[in-house]
Amino acid sequence: MHRLDKIIAARSSYSRSEIKKLIKRGEVSVDGEVCKAADKRVNESAEITVCGRAIGERYIYLMMNKPEGTVCAVSDGREKTVVDILPEEYKGRGIFPVGRLDKDTTGLLILTNDGELAHRITSPRAEIKKYYIAETDKPLTEENISMFEQGISFRDGTKCKKAQAKNLKSDEKNLVGVTISEGRFHQVKKMLAVCDIKVTKLTRISIGNLYIDVKLNKGECRKLSNIEINQIFFSNFN
Ligand code: URA
Repeated sequence: MHRLDKIIAARSSYSRSEIKKLIKRGEVSVDGEVCKAADKRVNESAEITVCGRAIGERYIYLMMNKPEGTVCAVSDGREKTVVDILPEEYKGRGIFPVGRLDKDTTGLLILTNDGELAHRITSPRAEIKKYYIAETDKPLTEENISMFEQGISFRDGTKCKKAQAKNLKSDEKNLVGVTISEGRFHQVKKMLAVCDIKVTKLTRISIGNLYIDVKLNKGECRKLSNIEINQIFFSNFN
């Protein structure tokens, strides 16, 4: 049970003072009954309407096909963020990106306002597998592939967990598939750099068993179903 004004604030983009006024004016109903007490304790599952319109669910879970040129942050003084490009209906609802992709990396990004779920995904202990496809200047050698399997060490001595890398078939370019189960800064690029391979493009394809929806154009997002949220926590090595 939470205060009515707090629930409305979490589920909508109304300001605190707007909410107070709306409640006082009798514009807010809880389970069909007008409620004029901002501090009324209300169940999370209650149906709340403001000015006759039901306000959305508490938590929102989105997948985005992240475009190049956006940073994984809520706001940034200089750069366009992944939250800046969300459709209006999702703005002002405390949504943030789960984990980080580099500015020039594209592909699967989860956004939510559920801090607990975000923590479950990013916690190093969860070891959720993430699969990337990199366009590179050259293919992997057999030695590179076994370095990934044993755990690559960065030049500064940091040792990465065991991972997988493979050359993918392509006529025109060098494509490398990489699966990692941690989320260090620039991890894929740095792992390939240890093999003297330069990444020219990077896309995230999956997190656990959740794959990017190929129908999403770059910059688009859509809600995740409950089944899809569960798929995040089931991993297979690719
Ligand atoms: N590894 C990288 O190097 N960059 C990303 O954006 C994600 C993983």
